[in-house]
Amino acid sequence: MEKKLTTELPPKEGFTPLCVPEIRGNEWKYVKECLDTGWVSSVGSFVERFELDVAKFVGTRFGVAAVNGTAALHTALLVAGVQPGDEVLISTLTFIAPANAIRYVGAWPVFVDAEPEYWQMDPARVWDFLENRCEWRRGNLHNKVTGRRVKAIMPVHILGHPVHMDRILEAARKFNLVIIEDATESLGAKYRESMVGTLGDIACFSFNGNKIITTGGGGMIVTDNEEWARQAKYLTTQAKDDPVEYVHNEVGYNYRLTNLLAAVGCAQMEQLPSYIAAKRRIASVYSKALEALPGITPMREAPWAYGTFWLYTILVDRSAFGIDSRSLLRGLEEEKIQTRPLWQPIHLSKAFLDCERFECPVAERLNREALSLPCSVGISEEDLNTVVEVLIASSKSRQSPRFAGSS
Ligand SMILES: Cc1ncc(COP(=O)(O)O)c(C=O)c1O
Repeated sequence: MEKKLTTELPPKEGFTPLCVPEIRGNEWKYVKECLDTGWVSSVGSFVERFELDVAKFVGTRFGVAAVNGTAALHTALLVAGVQPGDEVLISTLTFIAPANAIRYVGAWPVFVDAEPEYWQMDPARVWDFLENRCEWRRGNLHNKVTGRRVKAIMPVHILGHPVHMDRILEAARKFNLVIIEDATESLGAKYRESMVGTLGDIACFSFNGNKIITTGGGGMIVTDNEEWARQAKYLTTQAKDDPVEYVHNEVGYNYRLTNLLAAVGCAQMEQLPSYIAAKRRIASVYSKALEALPGITPMREAPWAYGTFWLYTILVDRSAFGIDSRSLLRGLEEEKIQTRPLWQPIHLSKAFLDCERFECPVAERLNREALSLPCSVGISEEDLNTVVEVLIASSKSRQSPRFAGSS
């Protein structure tokens, strides 16, 4: 029988975990302040402070806190005017949440392949779709096959690395499309000199347990658009039109982050620069140690990028390395090292088979070959060295029974 992969958090006892939170600052102090004062729910000074902290760090005029990144994306799509029946371009190689959020508003994702170097949305595929598969009808761009209006592009900056945005921004201008950045995995990353989250019209972050900073669960919408920020706050707080009389003119959502969790977020934001530095150091240790291993491609940083290396990932080429990524995963699991593949490309996921589908060979190969390695901010030197040593040993002895599993 196929052995179950150990990919879930928390990891098993004694394992070097994939990516766990780092709590070492004012979290206790700020949470205690909430508990002592009774300001535990969604009204309280930490929520607003967290919004300001994130907006200031990213460099946008406004931040609106949400219960999680998925809710933030849902809200961003609503305020950006994505309507039922619209289409939104998105890379097929991402966690499922942004595609789900597109469906929540009744719109349809159009899945674009990833580029092979940095594994992000491929701008050439975006242009190919817009130029060759769409046409203008009464001032709007429509997909020639489905007839649907194409409304937005959602670049997802995966793994702490930005999407190559120049051509995507150019496409948005030419085809009159909104850019909604899913920056959930890349807080602190930069494209050229600009922070991820400031590149499009509106952007979202996640603070779930494995992100670079965490509130346990949380999200944030950032934008320079005052009206969209106002609308986002309105929708995330049940669309209250009168605070006393319970008057609601629109359907709203209970999406506002609590003060308790925002308190954790404020403490985490104080540590963010040191967390990014830690992630980059972990990445450089891995990259130096692994780049010479045959069949291993370490995660890279583009010359136009400043990455946070949120989740350090390698590619394992079976023919050169001797075993495939999943066999390596199982071998590492026996050494009590938790690793994880990247996501099944969404165009292959059963839940999205009714979307228009294109060939996405790069994303499919990346899915077969990718393995994310332990890279918690607080990983000890000893654990990091052990992971490196085990990988080097597995490369040297890749025909040994331990690592020659079912490839
Ligand atoms: C790319 C991407 N988008 C959206 C989300 C959703 O964030 P959350 O889990 O906070 O809802 C996540 C992470 O979980 C993610 O990795």
